[in-house]
Amino acid sequence: MNTTYITTPIYYVNDVPHIGHAYTTVIADTVARFARLKGDDTYFMTGTDEHGQKIEQAAAKKGYTPQAYADEISAKFRELWDKFEISYDHFIRTTDDYHKLTAQNAFLKMYQKGDIYKGEYEGYYCVSCESFFTQTQLLEDERCPDCGRPTNLVKEESYFFKLSKYQDALLKWYEENEDCIVPRGKKNEVVSFVKGGLRDLSITRTSFEWGIKLPASLNEPRHVMYVWLDALINYLSTLGYTRGDDKMNYWKGATHIVGKDILRFHAVYWPAFLMSLDLPLPRCVAAHGWWTRDGEKMSKSKGNVINPSEVADAYGLENFRYFMLREVPFGQDGDFSQKAMIERINSELSNDLGNLLSRIVGMSEKYSDFEIKGENLRKFYGEVLDSGNEYLQNAIKNLESFATNRYLEELFKALTLANASIAKFEPWNLMKSGKKDEANALVSLCANLLARVAVLLSPAMPRTCEKIAQTLGFEISTATYEKIILNNEILDFKAQKTQPLFPKIEKELMATAVPSVSEPAKTAAAPQEKSDAKIKIDDFKKCVIKVGTVLECSNIEGSEKLLKFKIDLGEEQPRQILSGIAKFYAPADLVGKQVCVLANLKPAKIFGHISEGMILSAEDGSLCLIAPMAAVKNGSEVG
Ligand code: ME8
Ligand code: MG
Repeated sequence: MNTTYITTPIYYVNDVPHIGHAYTTVIADTVARFARLKGDDTYFMTGTDEHGQKIEQAAAKKGYTPQAYADEISAKFRELWDKFEISYDHFIRTTDDYHKLTAQNAFLKMYQKGDIYKGEYEGYYCVSCESFFTQTQLLEDERCPDCGRPTNLVKEESYFFKLSKYQDALLKWYEENEDCIVPRGKKNEVVSFVKGGLRDLSITRTSFEWGIKLPASLNEPRHVMYVWLDALINYLSTLGYTRGDDKMNYWKGATHIVGKDILRFHAVYWPAFLMSLDLPLPRCVAAHGWWTRDGEKMSKSKGNVINPSEVADAYGLENFRYFMLREVPFGQDGDFSQKAMIERINSELSNDLGNLLSRIVGMSEKYSDFEIKGENLRKFYGEVLDSGNEYLQNAIKNLESFATNRYLEELFKALTLANASIAKFEPWNLMKSGKKDEANALVSLCANLLARVAVLLSPAMPRTCEKIAQTLGFEISTATYEKIILNNEILDFKAQKTQPLFPKIEKELMATAVPSVSEPAKTAAAPQEKSDAKIKIDDFKKCVIKVGTVLECSNIEGSEKLLKFKIDLGEEQPRQILSGIAKFYAPADLVGKQVCVLANLKPAKIFGHISEGMILSAEDGSLCLIAPMAAVKNGSEVG
């Protein structure tokens, strides 16, 4: 029997979950459910990452102890996954004692192997990414190359892991295992990163306390483990590593599903740690892209997140699961929009899937008292059935390589085939002209195609597919999978009446309570959360705000929110600036008007367009641009 171990990242408890987390977890859940459907011996885990400076700071800011804060947020993740019917076998918290023990045991093994030595770390640290950088890696103003936030210079006693020692072994692993990292483009980035040379990695910290202590035998009470070492080891502590090893048989089938933001940790550091522990390397690390709002990564600290629970309440859990899996090609970024979701629900789920079921039930009622017999299916429509099967086999291949969008696309091709066959062969006319066998065979063709789709769709939409199975009177199970998907057998059905599966959605069901791109909290250069703390005048003086005249203004194709401006700020060239105010102003009304612009904002790319500044506005539910009370010279500073 094939053994499969599916993991999600363990999420930081610095803030509540958003749809980015839901996306990863739903992909992993779908992959795990599919593995079980095939009959694989499957273990699926998720959990929360609770140590480190970021959590310590987030807790302090709210006036909590780190443990109390972690308890509260970890429970929110767990509740969300339960609501999302995530079929995890284990939910790990890194503050659990068994995990701390495993992390210490692993640390000691690596130490005893000679891969850990004591030294002093001097360099930069990004608390948000919990990541070390050298000065040459930083962006200007010593900002983090991964997230753009300010880094801190740290100098402290530290233990190091001999990452450099594993450079060649890593390159060999990438070389010999084509699909060890997917998608391919991401793998290439990892390979060139490693070829660029690896430095030893600082793996303990002494400047704060919220972390796992080093093994007692090392007698280093001031050190705590680097949170990424602690976090990655969770994949082993879940399986009981060094504590009886009861589930370590799953390790050989490890598949890590992660976002591209944390690929380096999983594709470089993690396999090196595993080699140091003399353990096999993962079967696969699969990295998906980001959900964005108006072209920017959705993230807790940017405050531009969407609450998955709200989306599920408004649109239905499985509709939302379907949308997330269908909307974005694996590895690429995708923009969340209610409009796109409604479109897919209405045209794909309601029309292609829901209506097909209703039509099958309706025809079977009229023609054969709900009995759907497959006896003449091959005779009349064997070829159609076989061509439908090709789509199904493609769907499987795509899901196995995490291309969830193509997996669903192929399944829906099979549904389209069934719907098109009804239109083409017109069973009502067949009945009229006395070709009853042919008409019944056509109903059987459609029911068999739909049943096959339902079996393969069940990992993504378990409840919906359960309803389809009940309506047609068959069971979704590994045995059915083998019978109808692998062995191409035809089923008989006994249908029953049913409610429409997917009522049409007429209008957007959620208030868009998400800040527009013109709000400072969303720009790359202003990532820190606002606080009540007073600032000094010098802090304000860092902002250069200027008055300028709008020379041009237009809509941006594909975005309902964004307007693109050319603004004369009294500089040599007009500036191009994007602003998310299209819902409030028509472009033609703005040309010739003066506006206020934050002029020294670091340029950012929004929706593929460069934006060099931010137009200021006031919000009170609606939105109003800020302008001088009388005309002033372009470029005049606001102070
Ligand atoms: O990195 N779009 O935790 P984290 C898509 N604790 N996915 C997103 C996303 C977005 N906008 N934002 C987050 C950590 N994610 C570490 C992991 S694992 C040993 C330790 C998803 O809370 C995506 O899977 O920052 C990303 O990799 C993960 O959440 C990061 O979650
Ligand atoms: Mg993160």
